[in-house]
Amino acid sequence: MDETRESAGDRPFEVLVLGAGDSTRMGRSKLGLEIQGEPAFCRILRRAADAGARRGLVAHRGADGEEARRALEGCASVALEARLVAVPEDLRARGPIGSLSALIGEAEPGLPRLVWPVDHPHVSRETLGRLLEEGDGPRVPVFEGRGGHPVLLPPKLDGAVREAAAAGASLREVLRASPLEVQRVPVRDPGVLWNCDRPADLGVLPGAPDPGGAGLLALQRAHRSRRSFAPDPVPPSLLEDLVDAARHASTSSFVQAVSVVAVEDDERLRRVHDLCGKQRMILEAPVFLGICADLRHAEAALERAGDGLREPDLELFLVAALDAALFGQNLLLAAEASGLGGCFVGGARLHPRELAALLGLPPRVWVPFGLVLGRPLDDPLPRGRLPLPAVLHRETYSDAAVGAALPRMDEAVRSWARLANREGRLLLSRPLDESKGWGPRLRRSFGASRPPSRAHLPEALAALGFPFLAPASPPSRDPDGSPDGSPEDLPD
Ligand SMILES: Cc1cc2nc3c(=O)[nH]c(=O)nc-3n(C[C@H](O)[C@H](O)[C@H](O)COP(=O)(O)O)c2cc1C
Repeated sequence: MDETRESAGDRPFEVLVLGAGDSTRMGRSKLGLEIQGEPAFCRILRRAADAGARRGLVAHRGADGEEARRALEGCASVALEARLVAVPEDLRARGPIGSLSALIGEAEPGLPRLVWPVDHPHVSRETLGRLLEEGDGPRVPVFEGRGGHPVLLPPKLDGAVREAAAAGASLREVLRASPLEVQRVPVRDPGVLWNCDRPADLGVLPGAPDPGGAGLLALQRAHRSRRSFAPDPVPPSLLEDLVDAARHASTSSFVQAVSVVAVEDDERLRRVHDLCGKQRMILEAPVFLGICADLRHAEAALERAGDGLREPDLELFLVAALDAALFGQNLLLAAEASGLGGCFVGGARLHPRELAALLGLPPRVWVPFGLVLGRPLDDPLPRGRLPLPAVLHRETYSDAAVGAALPRMDEAVRSWARLANREGRLLLSRPLDESKGWGPRLRRSFGASRPPSRAHLPEALAALGFPFLAPASPPSRDPDGSPDGSPEDLPD
């Protein structure tokens, strides 16, 4: 196992982003640097958050205040409290050390500071892990013998930084004169030397995504479920384009087990609403899409070939459900790329038989989830996600990484609720509970003492052509028991 990975996240630190400089070669302020459609400083904050940063401070030119504030608000997936600090002109004139001195004045006493120039955004997570290993002195990443960025500075050097800024000296000189031993940390990461001071530098590191796909990653990170819509219809040609794009998703064994029923008729929408947990968004949206797990295509093709479909088993059921999920996500992403917004509707599983009848589905077709789409009117605060180390494991799964991520996830969810309430950026229109972390929120639906949800599904699916799921004795619980949606622990 890579030991370095486990160290990131263990040692509290604060990230100080230096973005107050002018980028002469880029012809704009450094804070405006973008990578794959995302401001470089947001990417840095995300990386630092994933490595366990407590807080982030971002230095900017006072003149960039408004632009910087908007960009910070747009850092949708940053699970970190970050603040902008305007650097006074006299300090800014001193260069990066002046900005650093201004940030140190606002930093949390006692925490080591990861000093990160905004034009070095391509630093790997592994490098951060190495820098954050224990040690008293400043730590500098070294690639092929050359020292780079970011640098971890102990707070004991605050005074020296301030004096250097006043005297017009550099950070390098502070390190040279440091009473603490400077630790040069060898890393395998050319990103520590990569100064993105030209447009061509931004997306071309080995292994960086193709800049041509730049906007896509930003779009994916900016996702939020939208639940309130303007009444204007989705133009038919746009809907066709979206479905056309989405149907090119991968499909297990080329079985193409997916289809979609678009409902725009008011009366039918009202009935869909009644069957899917009476969620208001279904009435507001100009279109509801029943995303179907569809083995009918394959069955018809086999019949045409003089054969028939084998009795659906667990594998076939999964094939169809997976195809539907891949198609659905492709579709929502295409819609978001076109300026629309939407929300999946797991409430479709409350009354699968009645919904199938309403949509005229043949046997071997059912709706595991729907999707409402439209021009969004709401502005919910992005919910964020588990920190990357709990999701991306290398070579083998690290349960320690999951354990380390959970307290931060709980705190992130509480801060999300606080901020969403304060700014009125809610999921539905009701206030959120600010006291509950992620785990406590999951308890309501998935806690060990909870009964299985939607116990009617095996029987209903058997009736729809997926008989292997039927239980020996049919369940008796009324599916309406779960209305599919409390104000915040949303249904799915
Ligand atoms: C398959 C699926 C079904 C869902 N069903 C519902 C639903 O019925 N009602 C709802 O309000 N949200 C539903 N959601 C949205 C989730 O609640 C939402 O994705 C999650 O809370 C994360 O929020 P975000 O999408 O804004 O990042 C569903 C999501 C998925 C993936």
